[in-house]
Amino acid sequence: WVFMVTARAPTNIAVIKYWGKRDEKLILPINDSISVTLDPDHLSATTTVAVSPSFSSDRMWLNGKEVSLGGERYQNCLREIRSRGRDVVDEKSGTLIKKEDWQTLHLHIASHNNFPTAAGLASSAAGFACLVYALAKLMDIEERYAGELSAIARQGSGSACRSLYGGFVKWDMGKERDGSDSIAVQLATEEHWEELVILVAVVSSRQKETSSTTGMRESVETSELLHHRAQEVVPKRIVQMQEAIANHDFASFARITCVDSNQFHAVCLDASPPIFYMNDTSHRIINCIEKWNRFEGTPQVSYTFDAGPNAVICAPSRKVAGLLLQRLLYYFPPDSSKELSSYVIGDTSI
Ligand code: DP6
Repeated sequence: WVFMVTARAPTNIAVIKYWGKRDEKLILPINDSISVTLDPDHLSATTTVAVSPSFSSDRMWLNGKEVSLGGERYQNCLREIRSRGRDVVDEKSGTLIKKEDWQTLHLHIASHNNFPTAAGLASSAAGFACLVYALAKLMDIEERYAGELSAIARQGSGSACRSLYGGFVKWDMGKERDGSDSIAVQLATEEHWEELVILVAVVSSRQKETSSTTGMRESVETSELLHHRAQEVVPKRIVQMQEAIANHDFASFARITCVDSNQFHAVCLDASPPIFYMNDTSHRIINCIEKWNRFEGTPQVSYTFDAGPNAVICAPSRKVAGLLLQRLLYYFPPDSSKELSSYVIGDTSI
């Protein structure tokens, strides 16, 4: 017999960035962060997990290629999940898997991303959130406290904890040493601000040179600005961002999103040696948006960049997103420039 479960989890984009860990093993951050979960039709991971007595080892395939499950992050997630597994009965065949069987039965995992891996579009976030969620379904796990699954996904990749929820999500850094209170909390559902449109301008789908994990470690060790940011700046911004989201205040939402992205990249520049995630095209996108926002006197759209050169742009409506797209096409004509390879907007892709 084989039991299987398939799940899908979208990626999320931080509007207040997580950057820096206080515990690398448990993946505990030095500041709270806030994100928007994207529409799963565009940027998501789909994962099938299967269990069978005929499997002789745990194995995983990512986009059709076998990958090792030997890394600490996978092992931590699998151990945490297995220890919470419950008795499961297959209704059709009457097969019973007892909770202690989860410790010895092997798993096969097949995961697919519908977007470039490691291009700074947070593919690990969707991947680990999806893995943990699918395994929890397979093993019929119920959360003992709100956010328990997010605390497991966090041990795969920090930002993954936020992808367990849709809409607007806050990751509380927590205080406990065991990380039990370092969990994601939904601030508002996706229906709360339905008009908001997110557009991703894909500048490069190449693998980034410095992974977030390495970049973060180097920033913690060498950047003074990082500590100022975590202690003095982010706590105030978290409060302001929560207010902006609650009040549908797009101008404040956009202003905080842009300055926070810029400060995160300033921290990377402040590391020694400096880390560059954005490129000239990213800078031109920032210029284009800043000029437009200044011309109108109030923010029309926001931009944010993760650990890569791709821009994630938020607009308050499809109409404004359309105007933005026109501008981007004017600045970066598709036929004469290969700088921007594609745009993904709502349900349209160019
Ligand atoms: C810039 O979650 O990928 O996207 O916890 O080491 O796996 P690890 O890092 P990761 O870092 C994401 C950093 C970011 C900001 C954010 O998503 O908050």
